[in-house]
Amino acid sequence: MTAAGTKTGTGIVTAAGARAVEGRLDVADTGTGFTVSVRSTDAYPIHLGHGIADDLASRLAPLVARLGSPSVVIAADTGVTHLLPRLLQQIRAIDVPVTVTPIPAGETSKSLPGLQILWQSLVEAGASRRTLLLGLGGGMVCDLIAVAAATYMRGLPYALIPTTVLAQVDAAVGGKGGIDYAGAKNLLGAFHHPAMVIIDPELTRTLPARQVRNGLAEVIKVALIADPALFADLERHSGQAPHGPALTPIVRAAVAAKLALLADDPFERGDLRRLLNLGHCIGHPLEAATGYRMLHGEAVAAGIATAVAVAHARGLATSADRARILNLLAAYQLPISITPALRGRIWQRVEIIRRIRNGPLYLVVPYRPGECGVLDDICHAEFESALNDLAHPTRARP
Ligand SMILES: NC(=O)c1ccc[n+]([C@@H]2O[C@H](COP(=O)([O-])OP(=O)(O)OC[C@H]3O[C@@H](n4cnc5c(N)ncnc54)[C@H](O)[C@@H]3O)[C@@H](O)[C@H]2O)c1
Repeated sequence: MTAAGTKTGTGIVTAAGARAVEGRLDVADTGTGFTVSVRSTDAYPIHLGHGIADDLASRLAPLVARLGSPSVVIAADTGVTHLLPRLLQQIRAIDVPVTVTPIPAGETSKSLPGLQILWQSLVEAGASRRTLLLGLGGGMVCDLIAVAAATYMRGLPYALIPTTVLAQVDAAVGGKGGIDYAGAKNLLGAFHHPAMVIIDPELTRTLPARQVRNGLAEVIKVALIADPALFADLERHSGQAPHGPALTPIVRAAVAAKLALLADDPFERGDLRRLLNLGHCIGHPLEAATGYRMLHGEAVAAGIATAVAVAHARGLATSADRARILNLLAAYQLPISITPALRGRIWQRVEIIRRIRNGPLYLVVPYRPGECGVLDDICHAEFESALNDLAHPTRARP
């Protein structure tokens, strides 16, 4: 599979939705009214490389100049304050006023109160529509600042420096912002592409091992959908979570695979049978059922395991491929079964989603690494049967 963007020496340039806005509005007079066509094209670089955060100024200075930004407002997760002095030294080399807004670590900041912290800091910094908002942190910060940037003064430019594996391979890629509201994840949000993304896998070195594995679950997901070589690469690491320079090609392959999968429908306006939903049909309800004690990637892993058990039961995945997939998840200490106590709550939420969508329940299932399909008629009995298989390792694993 080819990447959606143009490969460059240090990263990827996407052309999906733009900040250096080149827009156009075409109007046709229909006699009884008008037909209005609005076009906008976003093009922005994703710089990716081990250690590139040590050379931030050379990337951010031209961006600030191109945008004409009078100031930079940094939104930094309080869990990454150890990274700040090093990065600030770089950013201060650019000749613009810089302010830092700490965002309390944790999913609870991906909320209206979290958004208010950011809006308020933009007001206090006297931010204009050209002020650059710079996010430093994991998926929480990426999602939150995309919404703040989409809404403040109807849109200002933002850039991301993701610091978790999950954010580097997923949340910082695709321009999707969201906050949780009324108990529902990502209920409010917007598509708003960044002006730049700077991915330095070295920044994840201080991440707890559980968080690294959490991010690798999303890598396993895209590898299963689109990149069997990446899947084999993860198998070669045999559960030793890669870090440092070894992580960089893995992050790069995952970003390229995600961009390629987004290429045909970057604003998710097409049908709901998106392969990128692999693991999420069960994963999202599972995450919610545990009160978010289970991390997103962990829940996705259990969702992938359930999906491959369904595929195997239907004869769509061989025993050998099912074993490869379950073994890889287990090697990275990711969950591959769901406790009976949670099953009822998960299925209840699945049914709610089905009712809201008013259509069939789509389940993306892996056939083998690099090939997935979509089932649209999974029922409760099949779900239970898949989970029973997974609960009996002798049956579920070879
Ligand atoms: N927009 C998208 O396309 C998309 C895709 C996937 C996930 N998400 C969202 O991403 C969020 C999860 O992101 P996450 O897993 O990165 O969680 P997170 O942002 O909450 O970060 C997890 C923890 O790691 C800490 N941390 C971050 N970087 C660190 C570092 N370098 N060293 C030490 N600690 C560090 C944080 O303080 C936090 O405690 C969820 O809200 C999810 O919905 C969005």
